[in-house]
Amino acid sequence: MDDLGTTRPPACLAEIEQRTAVLGFPMASEQRTGALLRALAAAKPGGQLLELGTGTGLATAWLLDGMDPQATLVTVDIDPHAQAIARAVLGSDPRLDIVTEDAAAFLTGLAAPGRAAARGGFDLIFADAMIGKYTMLDQTLALLRPGGFYVIDDMLPQASWPEGHAPRVPCLLATLAARADLHTVTLAWSSGLVVAVRRG
Ligand SMILES: C[S@@+](CC[C@H](N)C(=O)[O-])C[C@H]1O[C@@H](n2cnc3c(N)ncnc32)[C@H](O)[C@@H]1O
Repeated sequence: MDDLGTTRPPACLAEIEQRTAVLGFPMASEQRTGALLRALAAAKPGGQLLELGTGTGLATAWLLDGMDPQATLVTVDIDPHAQAIARAVLGSDPRLDIVTEDAAAFLTGLAAPGRAAARGGFDLIFADAMIGKYTMLDQTLALLRPGGFYVIDDMLPQASWPEGHAPRVPCLLATLAARADLHTVTLAWSSGLVVAVRRG
């Protein structure tokens, strides 16, 4: 079996990959991760999706490719330079809201009276920044609707990990596994993934 042999990437992926290489962005999501995200996005017709850490928009492109016309995606990143690639290639998609903001401020803002109710929670959260995984995990998971997917990657050793990061990974995995409100699956595949589903 060949993981990507039969997978057709989103039409715009090659352009984002090419611009990502030119920028020298070192934290790009793998295609296998994107393929899984696309399938999960397709499981949520009309869903509200959130990505923490747009980067250059690789996973954003896969998510959009899986979403139906009624679904929406908010993607947040603090780095406008990387995010500019996503804006250039994907920014005209009316389902997409690209937010340039610290994810901590974004999550705190959602918790403010009125805003969380306005959003009503999310059906899929791809937490691809430290925030939402290693910090503010509870606040992030509180935004997950019943049946919603919480997805993280880079659970296997990565060249981009900062010094001292490695011991934090098993702690996060144990924290997620211990939560009674989630069904959690770990996948030693692609960069190392976790898919957790909020129990009804
Ligand atoms: C692993 S990369 C994201 C990769 C991207 N999702 C993809 O599919 O290629 C992590 C991103 O988190 C962003 N980031 C780091 N600290 C952040 C913060 N405090 N708030 C928002 N984004 C942050 C970085 O700028 C970086 O683009």
